[in-house]
Amino acid sequence: MITAYDYAFAGIFDEAGIDILLVGDSASNVMVGHETTLPITLDQMIFMAGSVVRGAKRCFVVCDMPFGTYQGNSKEALNSSIRIMKEAGAHAVKLEGGIEICDSITRIVSSGIPVMGHLGLTPQSIYKFGTYTVRAKEEEEAEELIKNAHAVQDAGAFALVLEKIPAELGKRVAEELHIPVIGIGAGMHVDGQVLVMHDLLGITKDFSPRFLRRYANLRDDIHNATAQYIADVKSRDFPNEKEQY
Ligand code: KIV
Repeated sequence: MITAYDYAFAGIFDEAGIDILLVGDSASNVMVGHETTLPITLDQMIFMAGSVVRGAKRCFVVCDMPFGTYQGNSKEALNSSIRIMKEAGAHAVKLEGGIEICDSITRIVSSGIPVMGHLGLTPQSIYKFGTYTVRAKEEEEAEELIKNAHAVQDAGAFALVLEKIPAELGKRVAEELHIPVIGIGAGMHVDGQVLVMHDLLGITKDFSPRFLRRYANLRDDIHNATAQYIADVKSRDFPNEKEQY
């Protein structure tokens, strides 16, 4: 699984063989420039998810439900998820949280919408935790996470994302649950992996957590290409005879 936020990248990832495109609310950071994921709106997520759906020919597209669109009550959660499915054409939604949002998960799933859960580091709760450090390192928090993982599965989620937790805990959750567990900084023993596209492709620069492997250095490539374009235009090298009518 990889995140995608627009038509062009969705098409490239789809062609490359990715199974699941996640229209993550990380868009708030990497696409819109906010410090946290909290400000992104449902309308903005729907706009991006619609573009991703149109770019994807075979991928399963999951769209994050943004902060404030499902925590209030299960009816609001259902209405928000219906908007995502109807207006963007996404195939599933993802919600952050455990037992406290299980009513919403059950209600959304009962209406025919697949739900992916998300536990561990849950960026929408950043102001509750105060940091983006590894979660559930202590026994008590680990047991709590396992309880929440079972609750999310029992509420009807078809898969679960685990973010930034010890690998041994990721292993235990993956062994105990029968739904697929997809990790980001959750170690090698889970069923699948997800990364934010800007991190994987080397577009972000000041973000280097241990779990991140960069597969390209697009930031430098794009910078150099742009600088070359500017130089060519200024020197009148571009356009040349063959590049005009
Ligand atoms: O918003 C997002 O990109 C995510 C992934 C980090 C799992 O939730």
